[in-house]
Amino acid sequence: MLLAALGLAGLLVRARPAPADGPAPATSATASTSATASAGDADSATAAEATTVATTVSRGAGVFQKHCALCHGTDARGRGRAAQLYNPPPPDLTRGEHDDAYREAIIRKGGAALGRSSAMPAWNTQLAPDQMSDLLAFVRTLRTAPPPARDAATSHAASP
Ligand code: HEC
Repeated sequence: MLLAALGLAGLLVRARPAPADGPAPATSATASTSATASAGDADSATAAEATTVATTVSRGAGVFQKHCALCHGTDARGRGRAAQLYNPPPPDLTRGEHDDAYREAIIRKGGAALGRSSAMPAWNTQLAPDQMSDLLAFVRTLRTAPPPARDAATSHAASP
């Protein structure tokens, strides 16, 4: 019953245009009590969704700091304490040299499975499924530079 109400509220939220900024305009004084209640539910469903995403990403950040930062760096820029041990070095993950699907593949299967360095471990067997999905959500937030083509033309011309 509650879940059904939240689901319906979610549909209402998606059907309505999102407010440009700030909270949705107050329900008009003539609206019935039930309309007011469902608008309230809709807002809290949206907030709950946003909180879930934020929680997932922040848990993913924790997984990253624990398992990846040693090589990729605490800021994911490829300057972890162990980075200098590897050639090729751990890449800067804030730059979009590969798409999310490729990144997921190399994270799950490791470098060797994709013809890359075996220094990049396979994580599929190391992380629980929810840790993996949190981590992948976090990794998707890292990219700050525009993707591929441009990079390929400059610094990565030699890559196959
Ligand atoms: C022991 C060091 C090490 C650890 C720990 C490590 N990596 Fe890597 N990673 C590497 C190296 C080295 C490469 C580059 C391999 C190559 O170029 O052949 C790499 C490559 C990658 C790539 C490919 C990036 C690209 O665009 O080419 C991703 C994504 C990645 N690592 C994510 C992660 C994540 C997420 C974790 C933690 C779960 C992690 N790595 C842990 C060393 C490491």
